[in-house]
Amino acid sequence: MKKLLTITLAFCTFVVAMACGSNEPEVDGTTGATEQTGSDEGTAKGKMLVVYFSRADENWQVGYVERGNTAIMVDYIKELADVEVFEIVPEVAYPAAYNECISYVNDIEIPQNLRPAYKSDISNLSDYETVFIGGPIWWGRPPMLFRTFFEKHPELDGKTIIPFGTHGGSGVGSYATLIKEYFHNATVLESLGIAGVSIRDASSRQTVENWLKKLGVDKQSTAINNVRTRSVDNSVSYSLNGMRSNGQRGIQIRNGNKYIKQ
Ligand SMILES: Cc1cc2nc3c(=O)[nH]c(=O)nc-3n(C[C@H](O)[C@H](O)[C@H](O)COP(=O)(O)O)c2cc1C
Repeated sequence: MKKLLTITLAFCTFVVAMACGSNEPEVDGTTGATEQTGSDEGTAKGKMLVVYFSRADENWQVGYVERGNTAIMVDYIKELADVEVFEIVPEVAYPAAYNECISYVNDIEIPQNLRPAYKSDISNLSDYETVFIGGPIWWGRPPMLFRTFFEKHPELDGKTIIPFGTHGGSGVGSYATLIKEYFHNATVLESLGIAGVSIRDASSRQTVENWLKKLGVDKQSTAINNVRTRSVDNSVSYSLNGMRSNGQRGIQIRNGNKYIKQ
């Protein structure tokens, strides 16, 4: 009941803002272009994947767009970090017209508790230690597509998960809630929500950069994380000044492999 009320209130804020024609919908009394919800402590680590869904076409406050708002946020993450990306593409596209889409989701998808199918799936999720998961907020929550994805991927449990997304004023806190509901052993780090209407502004790219930095994610660290780790290494290596370095503790990268000596 409490949850229902929260969702209803979230969408009411959004709807009231729509009715008022405001450019920046009010969220909890603040004009919220961006919002970060604190969660488990820690920083991102290991090989990283971004899983997202984003709908192009007509949307709240942005009109018709060729690339969805969350997809733009993913573009920033890709620019700023060495991550791989998996896009959840629904098998049946959502209506292109905004009003038709919100009615379909509210009248059919949510009340019927549907699990919409998506096109190709990812087969190597277990290779990643940290997974960013993001999308839009639909009626105060992540689209039902995420439930389909979570139910197909129990291997997300135990991973470090970082929620993110775009919204029309409700914030993206419900991503963390849904992730925790499905994956009790996941470490859920600080999420970032940005209002879809401002996602194309330079300040939003900066906000994404600051958030990633706080999570310990940048181009260099993620590039090293992506190098394959080999645990057995009997070869001898030399540092640039000619010193034999085999046997020393530390990380070496040779021939595209990473060797960690404890
Ligand atoms: C079906 C639907 C429902 C929506 N419900 C909400 C909502 O409850 N709260 C909100 O803040 N924004 C809502 N929005 C606006 C989107 O969250 C926002 O435009 C988002 O940036 C879209 O991201 P995308 O382009 O990546 O799909 C809704 C949009 C659609 C299409």
